[in-house]
Amino acid sequence: MDPVSPVLLFDSGIGGLSVLAEVRKLLPQAPVIYAADNAGLPYGTKTEAEIAARVAGLLGRMTERLRPRLVCIACNTASTIALGIVRDVLEVPIVGTVPAIKPAAAMTQTGVIGLLGTEATIRQGYVDRLEAEFASDKLLLRHAAPGLVTAAEAKLRGEPVDPGACAEAVAGLRRQPGGERIDTVVLACTHFPLLMEELALAFGPDVRFVDGAQGIARRIAFLTAGQPWQRRDADLALFTRGGDDVDALRPGLARYGLDRVEVF
Ligand code: DGL
Repeated sequence: MDPVSPVLLFDSGIGGLSVLAEVRKLLPQAPVIYAADNAGLPYGTKTEAEIAARVAGLLGRMTERLRPRLVCIACNTASTIALGIVRDVLEVPIVGTVPAIKPAAAMTQTGVIGLLGTEATIRQGYVDRLEAEFASDKLLLRHAAPGLVTAAEAKLRGEPVDPGACAEAVAGLRRQPGGERIDTVVLACTHFPLLMEELALAFGPDVRFVDGAQGIARRIAFLTAGQPWQRRDADLALFTRGGDDVDALRPGLARYGLDRVEVF
């Protein structure tokens, strides 16, 4: 294994930084390339066919050019739709992001779990299967919260977070039958943990949150155990489209150790 070969984290935007933060804790020495398909953001409102074609095509080109040792699809929408296809076409190990329904089912006291994701994620059979396998004796209420994706992107650019986006997410879950008994919320979109403080305030002290980031980081550490690591340059953030929005993200990206920014 080439010690400078990076781990490639991929998302539609900056949501995968919530995964990168956990990867840094376990593998501080790992060279990382963070790739954001901001030209395709948001994925959540696209069709399955659009998302699968986009993700498989981009990851194919990125893998060829960047030679990562492992690819992490740090995006629930892309993973629940395209993980199988991407695994079929790429030879590098692929780690996906799975909505954390299993740990939520173990945590809930009331038996009612909320799940916040994108529109595309919450309608996936992948989520139905996780619910059937791990939460069949619980009530799982789903809600699409695209406003939280926009809010998380704005927050990393240093802009104020729209409190309406969190309020809408709370209302979308609470107004469903049984919603008043939710005590555990699955953040099934990697953007959402970046709004943890705002969401905690909006839901109140009786709700706990669970996401997949720690589990993903453990999986990456397991799959790369014993491999040599060497960081030759500062870690790189790649965007599929440049512009003012990306420039505004630079200070936020630097807080995650991504000191170089380029367009792919
Ligand atoms: N961060 C992505 C996820 O985990 C979705 C954001 C988007 O709609 O592109 O699902």
